[in-house]
Amino acid sequence: MASGRSFFVTTPIFYVNDVPHIGHAYTEVAADVVARWHRQAGDDTWLLTGTDEHGQKILRTATANGATPQEWADRLVESAWKPLLNTISISNDDFIRTTEERHEVNVQKFLTTLYDAGFIYTGEYEGAYCVGCEEYKQPSDLVNGAGEYDGQQVCAIHSKPVETLHEKNYFFRMSDFQQQLLDLYEQRPEFVQPESARNEVIQFVKQGLDDLSISRSTFDWGIKLPWDDTHVVYVWFDALLNYITAVGYGYDEAQFSSRWPATHLVGKDILRFHAVIWPAMLMAAGVEVPHQVFGHGWLLVGGEKMSKSKLTGIAPNDITDTFGSDAFRYYFMSAISFGQDGSFSWEDLSARYQAELANGFGNLASRALAMVAKYFESVVPTPSEYTPEDRAIIDVVAAAALQADAAIERVAINEAIAEIWTIVDALNGYITDMQPWALAKEEAQRERLATVLYVVVEGIRALTVLLSPVMPHATNVLWNALGVGGSLGSLEQQPIREAGQWGQLAPGTGIGALEPLFPRIETPE
Ligand code: ME8
Ligand code: MG
Repeated sequence: MASGRSFFVTTPIFYVNDVPHIGHAYTEVAADVVARWHRQAGDDTWLLTGTDEHGQKILRTATANGATPQEWADRLVESAWKPLLNTISISNDDFIRTTEERHEVNVQKFLTTLYDAGFIYTGEYEGAYCVGCEEYKQPSDLVNGAGEYDGQQVCAIHSKPVETLHEKNYFFRMSDFQQQLLDLYEQRPEFVQPESARNEVIQFVKQGLDDLSISRSTFDWGIKLPWDDTHVVYVWFDALLNYITAVGYGYDEAQFSSRWPATHLVGKDILRFHAVIWPAMLMAAGVEVPHQVFGHGWLLVGGEKMSKSKLTGIAPNDITDTFGSDAFRYYFMSAISFGQDGSFSWEDLSARYQAELANGFGNLASRALAMVAKYFESVVPTPSEYTPEDRAIIDVVAAAALQADAAIERVAINEAIAEIWTIVDALNGYITDMQPWALAKEEAQRERLATVLYVVVEGIRALTVLLSPVMPHATNVLWNALGVGGSLGSLEQQPIREAGQWGQLAPGTGIGALEPLFPRIETPE
């Protein structure tokens, strides 16, 4: 199917100092929904995720746990980070670890390019470093501490004290790129999204850019500088390069030029690294900048960014064990406006599961298939003339498919789902109005009943295709029950941009039985 345009989407590579929580899963799911959508549209799609394994933060955690950093990273990747992808049904095409050779060697190549081009010099640096962020902080990035840190200045993101470091470092002439970056934001408004993130980045760059310290010499858990092996590469400089080393930069030009540039989905905590430092690095090396950096909001617990370091992290399988991965994906993608913060609560999750998935979508599918079984011996009936009510459904389906695709282009995932959900609501309303059970009582209404049920199941056919990137499991079950595999092929083969074209479900198709897609949950936590 890969005949359309190239679409390369990435998640951040996550620190392996700890296990994943639902914040990490949130970005993974968003990237996966967008990737599945494009893949299903026939675009040559590539979804990259992975792990960030160098630096002081990982080194300290490993040491505190009596392991070498490599042992620690291996353990966390195998026991926690790769299994996460399975837990939430991520269809990644690659998984990069920054300790892999394809990465390390080509980070060094990239640095050599910058060094030879004169963008690197030595200097001294003294500043406040947050190991949680792996970043030097400006005084304006610090806030007053509370509790055990009362009276101290702490990192605004981690709420922990910063450390004063004084080192001889190598520096990247990032300040050279201020004007080019401002031009980029101006000429390509889609480069940083959403709009609030774009404005924040522009304000930040307008204040002027410092050069960036890109090496550390007080520890050695990192990639050695090619021209000075007493220094390792600053972990962020190393990590950002994963997006190109994973797709052939430095070793497979054909792959690199077919995949790059990427759409980067990141949390707003790391927006500046992606929207300022990263394009400046690429400009210096003469490599094309990303297609887009989308900074999404935070999942909040008690009004604060949920995080492991603050012990507010929730494990993804705490949710999927009860509700399943489809519901996990649907909930986070539909309930939170992508780009804004959102509060997670078990009550909201349970309520939406019951109202939207079990009663709204699941029940629609079960009722529709049960009526075809009961009134037409499980064979999709042939519609006759359409009434205005039928035509209204046909229009809703066409519009929803079109609008959802447009929303995905803008990475407005919740809006795409809201568009698709207009089909669920329209079909449920249509069934209530048409009362097929009443039509079934009169032999004279046989044709009308056939038309009504055709409209419902053909609407569900479109709905199944459109929801498949969000809920791959339930939609596969429903696709099989619809019995269209023989005539239309597998669900993954359905071109999503044509899902709204009416009449794809052939009359005469034999329909199977359907178990409840979203069973009642007895005791949510
Ligand atoms: O920053 N809400 O890794 P990290 C929403 N290794 N998303 C959240 C979240 C929350 N409460 N908490 C975390 C790093 N995330 C670097 C990245 S990329 C070259 C290097 C998600 O393990 C969100 O995507 O701290 C955030 O940006 C990311 O996890 C940070 O993950
Ligand atoms: Mg973090």
